[in-house]
Amino acid sequence: MRLKTAYVEQQINIMQADSRLGVPLTNKPQLEIVDFSSPNIAKEMHVGHLRSTIIGDCIARVLEFRGHNVLRLNHVGDWGTQFGMLITYLREKYPEALTTENALDIGDLVSFYKKAKQRFDTDEDFQKSARHEVLKLQAGEKNTNHAWKLLCEQSRQEFKVIYNLLDIQLQERGESFYNSFLPAVVLDLEASQLLELNQGANVVFLEGFTNRQGEPLPLIIQKSDGGYNYATTDLAAVRYRIQLDKAKRIIYVTDSGQANHFAGVFQVARRAGWVPDDVELVHVPFGLVLGKDGKKLKTRSGDTVRLRDLIDEAVNHAREDLDARLKEEQREESAEFVINVSLVVGISAVKYADLSQNRTSSYKFSFDNMLSLKGNTAPYMLYAYVRIRGIARSGKINFTQLGDTKIILKEDLELALAKHLLQLGEVINVVETELLPHRLCDYLYQLSDKFNKFYENCPVLKSEATIRNSRLALCDVTARVLKLGLSLLGIPVLERM
Ligand code: ARG
Repeated sequence: MRLKTAYVEQQINIMQADSRLGVPLTNKPQLEIVDFSSPNIAKEMHVGHLRSTIIGDCIARVLEFRGHNVLRLNHVGDWGTQFGMLITYLREKYPEALTTENALDIGDLVSFYKKAKQRFDTDEDFQKSARHEVLKLQAGEKNTNHAWKLLCEQSRQEFKVIYNLLDIQLQERGESFYNSFLPAVVLDLEASQLLELNQGANVVFLEGFTNRQGEPLPLIIQKSDGGYNYATTDLAAVRYRIQLDKAKRIIYVTDSGQANHFAGVFQVARRAGWVPDDVELVHVPFGLVLGKDGKKLKTRSGDTVRLRDLIDEAVNHAREDLDARLKEEQREESAEFVINVSLVVGISAVKYADLSQNRTSSYKFSFDNMLSLKGNTAPYMLYAYVRIRGIARSGKINFTQLGDTKIILKEDLELALAKHLLQLGEVINVVETELLPHRLCDYLYQLSDKFNKFYENCPVLKSEATIRNSRLALCDVTARVLKLGLSLLGIPVLERM
């Protein structure tokens, strides 16, 4: 882009004086829903949920910053056969868990669930009781419902720890929320003549989806035993979100494995006439997190990686790096400093490594890469921010008092940095429309890079007054853009690191 220097100078001045750094509020605020893929109750959060959670969080933050009203919904799998299994199993082996609060921790729950599932798959009587338990749950039977509530609460506590660590705000609206709206889905689909009886089940045949034999694929709405499916709940949710929440865009952040599921659900919702022209349904798919071997990330023993362990490990790695650096630089820091920096750097590194990849592709998870102080990483960007704060400290500069500094851009590197700063609004716009967080990461990476080049070649504190002030103002805008950009990624800045 060829912009006249005088124009760039003027625009940077405007940006500096604006608390939103020149990014306007949207002129069309609307209700946007971000639907997070979270674990089912009695399962632990694993590395797959990490992607949905932080990609969804970033999208929500960007939309909020633009002035939209955002509902962040945690679509927890808190209903269905899994409870039947779990309750039946616990009733036999550990009945206290069904009546007493906090009788189990999540680890117990997970292992009980595994055993219950084994029984369910091999033992016909057990299967029958489990199915019966589901019916009791659906019919609102008191004991079963109480047990269900306890089990949900137990899992919720565990999820909360992780959401707090990652600084994620979510509103829980699990699958059970839509229970009472399921029959209306069937009635509506019947009325619009989409519903057909197929081998005892109520189904809608999808257009454009066929099986290997070329036969049209059905979306099962109600099974022959009267039970509903994952898809039925999603249909009820679409209907509710459009008709009652009045959402204008509903964004589903899940792995690409669910692409067909959502394509089917969206199609049926549209054919049923629930989706007005001004409402958008979007699936935001993402790829897998891979290990060094290029296969799905697993622990050494071959299990799925618990999110909790992954976060702890990242923080430990960050701590080791920091200790080594402090030793090398012969610095003494307080225990509080060390703990805080390790926590922020560790978690930010994990978030950034994920967000900086084009979400549609899979990526290799590597602590060494994500914690590196060089390259497209969180530490690199945090460090650029720290550098600018260091200038303020050593020059005893209060950036807020730079007020109406006149920006003068003489050097190419200054001009390049300034032009890049001016692209902030455009990038945020791209993330808002295309829902691609890595575009913001790319922008921030280039910003840090351009800032470093400027800073290494253009003296700031040692320049004469007008240039000095202009460069300080440029540093200030850079720091504020970095801070804002990182905050939209869910990453806080550090004054020192
Ligand atoms: N709970 C589901 C899972 O673990 C994801 C929910 C995604 N959202 C939705 N509306 N289906 O896979």
